[in-house]
Amino acid sequence: MNTIESLKKKKVVGEKLTCLTAYDASFAQILDEAGVDIILVGDSLGMVIQGKETTLPVTVDEMVYHASAVKLGAPEAFIVVDMPFMSYKSPDDALINAGDLMKKSGANMVKLEGGKNQLDTVKKLSNFGIPVCAHLGLLPQSVHKTSGYRVQGKEENDANVLFDEALSLQNSGADMLVLECVPANLAKRISESLDIPVIGIGAGADCDGQVLVLYDILAISKGKRPKFSKDFLAGQDSILDALKSYVNAVKTSEFPAAEHSF
Ligand code: KIV
Repeated sequence: MNTIESLKKKKVVGEKLTCLTAYDASFAQILDEAGVDIILVGDSLGMVIQGKETTLPVTVDEMVYHASAVKLGAPEAFIVVDMPFMSYKSPDDALINAGDLMKKSGANMVKLEGGKNQLDTVKKLSNFGIPVCAHLGLLPQSVHKTSGYRVQGKEENDANVLFDEALSLQNSGADMLVLECVPANLAKRISESLDIPVIGIGAGADCDGQVLVLYDILAISKGKRPKFSKDFLAGQDSILDALKSYVNAVKTSEFPAAEHSF
C-alpha cells in the first residue's frame, strides 16, 4: 500500500511512479492488480464517461460517486481525486469541498489545477491535513481561457513562471505535482528541483512518474489519441496484461519515448 512517504521514497531512489485514471470499481481493481502506484479519479470522466466536450460540467457529487466506487474496487490503493471546476474558487470553498471529497469517498489526496492563484488554497488544505496534488502546465479546466489544449511553457519567460509556481506550490504544502503538456527539458528541471514527486503527462521521460487517461491507453476514447499517449492494449490478450505492460514500460523508462514528448 502506498502512502505519501512511500511515494516520496520511490522518488529519492529513482523508482518511476505509475499512475492511471479510473472511475469505477472494476477498473480500479484491475489497476491495483497490475501494480499501478497511484489511481487518479480524474475529472476527465466528464469527457470519457459522460461524453461531454470538456471537464467543466463535472460536479463534486459526481466525483464523490466515482471516487467511492474506485475505493471499493481498490481499498488498499493510493487514490487521488480531482476537485472539479469552481469547487475551489476560494480557500474556504476548497476546504468544504475537499473535506467532503475525502470524507465521503475515502480518497487519500485531492488534486487541483493552478499556480500562484492557488497558493493560499493549497496552504489552507494542507494546514487542515488534506494532502494536495497540484497541477500545472496545460489546465483542462481553463480550456476556454487558453483557447484550446496547447503545450505550455515553450517560451523562456513562461517556462520560468511555471518553474517558480512549482516551487511555490511545494513550499505552500503540496505533496505531489502533475505537469501536463510542457516541454521535456522544463519538466526535467522542475522534477530535479522539487522534493515532492512530479508526475508527467506529455512532459517527457524525466519526471518522477507518469500518468495517462485509462481509456486512451485502452484505445476506447473518442477521437484521436493524444501524441503523448499510447495504445497499450495492442498486442496484449487482456486489459490486465495491457496495464502490466504500461507499468513495466514506465518503470523501465521505455515510456514515454521522444515521440510522446514535446
Ligand atoms: O482528469 C484527469 O484525468 C487528469 C489527468 C489528465 C492528469 O487530470
